Amino acid sequence: MTTLLEIDRVSLAFGGVKAMNEVSLTAEEGRITAVIGPNGAGKTTLFNTISGFYKVQKGEIRFAGKRLDTQPAHARSGLGIARTFQNIALFSGLTVLENIKLGAHAQLRSNLFRSALYLGPARTEEHALTARIDRDIIEFLDLAEIRDKQVSGLPYGLQKRIELARALVMRPRLLLLDEPVAGMTPPEKEDMARYIRKTVEAFGTSVLLIDHDMSMVMGLSDHIVAVNFGSVIARGAPDEVRNDPDVVEAYLGAA
Ligand SMILES: Nc1ncnc2c1ncn2[C@@H]1O[C@H](COP(=O)(O)OP(=O)(O)OP(=O)(O)O)[C@@H](O)[C@H]1O
Ligand SMILES: [Mg+2]
Repeated sequence: MTTLLEIDRVSLAFGGVKAMNEVSLTAEEGRITAVIGPNGAGKTTLFNTISGFYKVQKGEIRFAGKRLDTQPAHARSGLGIARTFQNIALFSGLTVLENIKLGAHAQLRSNLFRSALYLGPARTEEHALTARIDRDIIEFLDLAEIRDKQVSGLPYGLQKRIELARALVMRPRLLLLDEPVAGMTPPEKEDMARYIRKTVEAFGTSVLLIDHDMSMVMGLSDHIVAVNFGSVIARGAPDEVRNDPDVVEAYLGAA
């Protein structure tokens, strides 16, 4: 196994709240690693340190063997890191295709204004991008029927799938999914789990996944890291972590 991402004794406090306390974990190439833990455990904060939204106060993050935490946030997607958010972050007035395209624009140095007007050098880029999205993403995630529909009004489960589509546009090496099945119906959850697995199989993507749905997490992940109050309390294969007394205690304590 090859390590793609290394979180090495990372700490981050907000005032007196230690959101991350010497957290260490790794994500292996082509594997699905889950981060579980009660509300407020520091899971989203971890994602924010990887994507560069928060600066680490102590420790290091390395990606593909190189220092990541010193890189500016905007450079990190170019290195091959993409994410989805805990709350839906789509532009509801735009179409499915337009939302997916936005996943590429930070890097193509175009912007929505230019592309909407088909100005200058953006135009060829735009056509190539649309063709690639149609070929690689729309079909792959079964979005053809709603490609040109406005996002508002689409079922919640589909909106989450569009977020996945947007994150996949740049063919990331590492995909960060913050609660991809939260709030979904059971069939929607099954679909999402299937698309995540399909992504890993088709592209060799490494996934770091946060979720509270234990049956989804246990069924999908190769490796699980449990956190509570900013610290890692257990790690291992799904079966080991599920039965770990500290993990059981953390969840019972939170109930
Ligand atoms: N920007 C911020 N400013 C102040 N406190 C913050 C900030 N971001 C996170 N925190 C605090 O850090 C702690 C960890 O929050 P975080 O969002 O990482 O939890 P989480 O594990 O993702 O929880 P959930 O499962 O509810 O999403 C919490 O106490 C939270 O209130
Ligand atoms: Mg969170």
